[in-house]
Amino acid sequence: MTLSIDEAFRKFKSRLELNQKEQDNASAKHKEVREYLHTKFDIEGDFLTGSYARYTKTKPLKDIDIFFPMKESEKAYREKAASVVLDDYKAALVEKYGEKAVRRQSRSINVDFGVEVKEDDKTDYKVLSIDVVPAFKSGDDYEIPDGDTGKWIKTNPKIHAQKAVDAHQAYSNEWKGLVRMVKYWNNNPKHGEKPVKPSFLIEVMALECLHGGWGGQFDREIQSFFATLAGRIGETWADPAQLGPPISGSMDAARVERAQKLLTAAAREADHAIHLVRQGKNGEALRAWRDLFGPMFPLS
Ligand SMILES: Nc1ncnc2c1ncn2[C@@H]1O[C@H](COP(=O)(O)OP(=O)(O)OP(=O)(O)O)[C@@H](O)[C@H]1O
Ligand SMILES: [Mg+2]
Repeated sequence: MTLSIDEAFRKFKSRLELNQKEQDNASAKHKEVREYLHTKFDIEGDFLTGSYARYTKTKPLKDIDIFFPMKESEKAYREKAASVVLDDYKAALVEKYGEKAVRRQSRSINVDFGVEVKEDDKTDYKVLSIDVVPAFKSGDDYEIPDGDTGKWIKTNPKIHAQKAVDAHQAYSNEWKGLVRMVKYWNNNPKHGEKPVKPSFLIEVMALECLHGGWGGQFDREIQSFFATLAGRIGETWADPAQLGPPISGSMDAARVERAQKLLTAAAREADHAIHLVRQGKNGEALRAWRDLFGPMFPLS
């Protein structure tokens, strides 16, 4: 019995969902890193956040964001360039995890746990890495360091989370699944560099690009999502919470052009896959979707 396209998409969607074992591993990693960082800095109320907390994270599960809000006693960092706090957190994490496992990024420190990714993108339910984000509370918002500019930027994870919840509900609870699927496409190593950077931009665009409600068919939803992303990737996309710098800030002209090409190609491939089903070529259609997305899209 061959899988229908709808069944295949449902299976794909559930494979990209966070399961309990993965959440347990993420909590364990959070606990381990928090217990250590609390010995190094005055931290209060650290929490798992970003796409992980919103259920818009894709697989393999990596770069889970953890905010580490610091107490008043650490406020001297806030007056210094953003690179200072990032360097100090990096040095602290290197002491525990070693130079090779720790990488400074623009707004966080990445800690890699050295987990193996299998051919089918499975990781034995383990989290590959986390992003440690030093932060200060600022009213209802947070301020986090931006190493690229040396400044601190404002953010509010609660507002981002609420927007995602609202969009999901307005889309018959299919919005987050569609976002995870396109983020999975974006992460496919076949592209080399990610076409859309940061991948949060896909979620931010989805707030506007998935509209009019769920049409009932995954293949058509994905096809038109890719087409709309291709058409609008060159626009300026503001922080949905109106606090931080534009989410599209690192999409320069060359990146936009490349992303546009790849998104357009993806929309065309999706169109072709839909056409194959109309011709009764279900198996070929499944293969086309697998080629488009990657190994987590099921063939059976
Ligand atoms: N320019 C910005 N202004 C304000 N907040 C931002 C900005 N960029 C990111 N954020 C917040 O920081 C969080 C973590 O950023 P990150 O780039 O890891 O995105 P993400 O949604 O977690 O996606 P990914 O699945 O790629 O990790 C985002 O989810 C968002 O809440
Ligand atoms: Mg993240």
